Amino acid sequence: MTDFTATRAQFDLPDGIIYLDGNSLGPLPKAAAARVARTVTEEWGQLLIGGWNRAGWMDMPARAGDRIGRLIGAPEGTVVVGDTLSVKVYQALASALELRRNRKVILSDSGNFPSDLYMADGLVRTLATGHELRIVEPEEVANALTEDVAVLLLTEVDYRTGRRHDMRRLTERAHAAGALTIWDLAHSAGAFPVDVAGAGADFAVGCTYKYLNGGPGAPAFVYVAHALADRVRPALSGWLGHEAPFAFDLAYRPGAGIARMRVGTPPILQLAALDAALDVWEGVDLSDVRTRSIDLSELFIAEVESRCPDLTLASPRDPAARGSHVSFRHPEGFAIMQALVARGVVGDFRAPDILRFGFTPLFIGTKDVRQAAVILEDILSGRTWDRDEFRRRATVT
Ligand SMILES: Cc1ncc(COP(=O)(O)O)c(C=O)c1O
Repeated sequence: MTDFTATRAQFDLPDGIIYLDGNSLGPLPKAAAARVARTVTEEWGQLLIGGWNRAGWMDMPARAGDRIGRLIGAPEGTVVVGDTLSVKVYQALASALELRRNRKVILSDSGNFPSDLYMADGLVRTLATGHELRIVEPEEVANALTEDVAVLLLTEVDYRTGRRHDMRRLTERAHAAGALTIWDLAHSAGAFPVDVAGAGADFAVGCTYKYLNGGPGAPAFVYVAHALADRVRPALSGWLGHEAPFAFDLAYRPGAGIARMRVGTPPILQLAALDAALDVWEGVDLSDVRTRSIDLSELFIAEVESRCPDLTLASPRDPAARGSHVSFRHPEGFAIMQALVARGVVGDFRAPDILRFGFTPLFIGTKDVRQAAVILEDILSGRTWDRDEFRRRATVT
């Protein structure tokens, strides 16, 4: 059994804050601050450029990849870390399209994160070989898998509503139609057990700053199924994905397997923070995380629905059809969320009207959930959100 009191003690959470936004930016693991400081002073400071070899910096993307692989059901040597998630989406998509040259459709859905769609759109324009990005409603995906679809590009958990696709079933359907699959696990990795290999996914990508707590700007990960890894030709063919980067050949030759999905110099300070954040997962059973996340989410929904009749549940009612966040709608959602944050309950807002709350059992418990619902009720019943100061929008909502 996972000891959630012990995991909570490993995070540095400010006093008086109920943090229901670990699905957007995970909090600081105490060990990460010390690890980054050590990497700065002892490694960068003392070893200088020798850090690449003597501190193992160059192997960090593969090491972090294997550690994340254990959380998403990916065998050793099939995941590597680096760049941003948007970049990893582009890389995976370019590779997949090349493996299905005779097909021209990228199928996605309206619940996908816009950046994934923007990257697909940019790639289609760059290729200029007649590809089409086809976007359907989430419920229509299975039926839209026609014989012209090259790739199914989906985010497993909808960033707004928390609605979760059935990865195994849709992957099977895609394969039956002759298409490849790319799964964006931004809201899945660390949220519940994921089994990319078991589901037969061809590619998976995800970020490490949400449930994995790697810190702001932490690098992304990419998974390529074993059977494909030596067949993909990276579109972003940077020197660190080359078979022999330090041979400085003028011609690009892809590295073996997943190594070819590396691009350029890895962000060592971020990788140090991520490595410390991944230590928290040692001894954590993701099925315990899932059970507790459902308990917390169900409790929150029940409390909010009984206390706050003005809010409408935007997430699926069936917990099996959700990820690990819960959303409610209200036309004044932005101001309400600002008022909540001012009272120490941190969730976030997604346009046009979504109040989003993440349930992250590593550091959130039932007492937090009850208290958050009480404060939300107080704000709504007293209309304390109805002030100009709570309507002012900063860059990040
Ligand atoms: C589902 C999903 N995909 C892609 C992205 C974009 O990630 P990045 O900003 O790391 O490129 C995000 C960011 O939150 C996301 O939630």
